[in-house]
Amino acid sequence: MSKESISLGLLVLLSGLSLPAWAEVEDPAELRLIQTSDDVQTWMTPDEIADLAQRSHAEGHCGGFIDITEHPNKTPVLPDKVLSPLEGRIPSHQTEVNRLLPELSAQKIMDSIRKLSSFQNRFCRSQNGVDATQWIHAEFVRMSKGRNDVTVDFFKHNLLQPSVIARIQGKDPTKKEERIVLGGHADSINWSRGFPKPQDRAPGADDNASGVATLLETFRVLMDSGYQPDRTLEFMAYAGEEIGLVGSQDIAEKYNKTQMRVIAALQLDMTHFPGPDPKIHFINDHTDNDLTRFTEMLVDTYVKIPWVEMPCKYACSDHASWTRAGYPATFPFEAPMDSHNPKIHTEKDTIDLLDGNFGLHFAKIALSFAIELGNQ
Ligand code: BES
Ligand code: ZN
Repeated sequence: MSKESISLGLLVLLSGLSLPAWAEVEDPAELRLIQTSDDVQTWMTPDEIADLAQRSHAEGHCGGFIDITEHPNKTPVLPDKVLSPLEGRIPSHQTEVNRLLPELSAQKIMDSIRKLSSFQNRFCRSQNGVDATQWIHAEFVRMSKGRNDVTVDFFKHNLLQPSVIARIQGKDPTKKEERIVLGGHADSINWSRGFPKPQDRAPGADDNASGVATLLETFRVLMDSGYQPDRTLEFMAYAGEEIGLVGSQDIAEKYNKTQMRVIAALQLDMTHFPGPDPKIHFINDHTDNDLTRFTEMLVDTYVKIPWVEMPCKYACSDHASWTRAGYPATFPFEAPMDSHNPKIHTEKDTIDLLDGNFGLHFAKIALSFAIELGNQ
């Protein structure tokens, strides 16, 4: 990286101008604007990004950067009327939630993890990543059994891989504009040999076939029961998380620009590798306190296992895109930071290391989140 391009990048940011023409390169993988902390942004080549990721992995944490090439400016603050505070809300749909919880199947989640991790990779700049999102799209369509209040769409990015959004339209005329998002990233990556190539092996079983499989199973149970929410529910499998939250930033920023009313966003990323002392670990930075408090109550009410809070210390997953765009997000995670799955981002992030019964706790969180917040 030359000093010139760093200072030009900074100049562009400081002056608030649009990107220079040379930044709109033919190959979108060429030069990217990478943010490593609130006030440090640098134009980087793929090799420099890979160096950054590898250095951080060697230090015992992951990349710790976000790619803000398409979203260099801070998003405007949303007016109050777009949001709807959750403060004071408590779980209040026990009968309905308790009736559906036993329908969740640990086995079906593991089957989806097996399928998703059988793609050579789900890398966002590879046809494999496209194939995987096509499979996810087809699963949502199959499960929705032709319901006319359900749509399944691709959301395109400056990437080969699209995101997938399955939407259950809210039925209450006064609430259906309010949306509840349940999401997780569809892509996987292997950072062990420089910037990933399209055919590198990256099973990403825990990171994050586990989260996507959990979303699919939650959606299946809602569909099989004929559930119709008052608010609109959106299930999202994001593209390009692993190269810097690219897919979720595009979606959250678009929702902000069009003043979509996202009341709550749940992030599922790594759900099937319990730490030494199985608990739910709520991330308490780049998340919303009230929504996290509410989701902790869901764990107490419906999952009945211990939970703790801890920081990720950086914008470590797609919840940060929602937070950045001004929306409340929460992120329950599998294990303490010092004992999460050590094989992520390698060819060894495989299903044999995962625990289906532990992972089921996150499906209970997701199902109770969908019903408690989907209902009036
Ligand atoms: N699943 C990880 C995030 C994670 C890893 C959270 C370990 C907690 C513990 C996610 O897929 C990831 O790898 N995120 C990147 C950041 C991203 C913005 C490039 C990371 O952690 O470096
Ligand atoms: Zn990852």
